[in-house]
Amino acid sequence: MKLKIAVLSGDGIGPEVTQQALKILNAISEKYNHTFEYEKADVGAIAIDKTGDPLPEETLKTCIDSDAILFGAIGDPKYDNNPSAKVRPEQGLLKLRKSLGLFANIRPLCTYDALIHKSNLKEHVIKGTDFVIYRELTSGIYFGEKEADEKGETASDNCKYTADEIDRISHLAFKAAQVRRKKLTLVDKANVLETSRLWRKRVTKIAESYPDVNLQFLFVDNAAMQIILNPAQFDVILTENMFGDILSDEASVISGSIGLLASASVGKHTAMFEPIHGSYPQAKGKNIANPLAAILSAAMLLDHFEMYEEAEDIKIAVEKSIELNITTPDLNTTNHFSTTNVGNFIRDYILDDENTFYNKNNIDLGQSTII
Ligand code: IPM
Ligand code: MN
Repeated sequence: MKLKIAVLSGDGIGPEVTQQALKILNAISEKYNHTFEYEKADVGAIAIDKTGDPLPEETLKTCIDSDAILFGAIGDPKYDNNPSAKVRPEQGLLKLRKSLGLFANIRPLCTYDALIHKSNLKEHVIKGTDFVIYRELTSGIYFGEKEADEKGETASDNCKYTADEIDRISHLAFKAAQVRRKKLTLVDKANVLETSRLWRKRVTKIAESYPDVNLQFLFVDNAAMQIILNPAQFDVILTENMFGDILSDEASVISGSIGLLASASVGKHTAMFEPIHGSYPQAKGKNIANPLAAILSAAMLLDHFEMYEEAEDIKIAVEKSIELNITTPDLNTTNHFSTTNVGNFIRDYILDDENTFYNKNNIDLGQSTII
């Protein structure tokens, strides 16, 4: 298959982890004879520095002209700590999502046997957890009218949803539930918010077309608790933009690190694949950031184009790296590996059919022979 991929590595650790994802895509194209062409473009703080715009016109054009987008991370402390900044890196990502109509953000979450005992949560609580969050991505409070008075005394963010915006992501979530464990949980705050009551009405109606899917409702405060108390109860979680943002960071604790969570954003135009973690500026340039979320985002890209075997290869190699403890410091405090070394291991594992290249003893010593 031939694919044109826009590469927007962005800020902070974005470039480092994206580089590993590209390494893995190259290994896949070599192994399966695909042609992936990459076009790099600036977004976020780096784009502001160069052009004054977090999403330059040229970057948007590159994305529109591509088959897929691989995204790194966005954000910079110089903006985080300055609430008066008029232009912010995050605006680039939000505008990109909106311009491309990427209304559904799909965030899968699972546990890895080798990490279960390391979790902050108890093993018996998280064992077997496997769910996916369908987060609405182009509406709600993120995109409603914003106001802030000159005096700095009043500000508001409007949360608005239309029936269409709710329906289109709901259909995707129900379809996903049909091929999973057939359970869908709508997370909202329908006891307080009008928008949530609209979500309930629409989703209840849509559920009639998916009689095989068991629909449940959960208020978001309770959902935040249930995700920690009994995460294995969830299959597909459907929710609005901001609730999805918050709950997915919370849920990442179950997997073991936010550095493991990948996502796909799909909708009208070019689909985008991005780790859910941010730019982690403290780690920038240190070669310590976990590249697995970026690499698993590349696997989601391949899944999207029905390259299932290729995507599976990546997932198996990632699992192997976790099993052998070839991981970055967020998962491995004693004998950790660098971002580049984890990427190299996964690449070599994918390319080596016999799996003969590594020496278990050296790995135990923290020195993989392939590195
Ligand atoms: C995410 C991020 C973004 C969001 C930020 C960077 C705007 O936290 O993708 O989850 O809030 O959507
Ligand atoms: Mn987030």
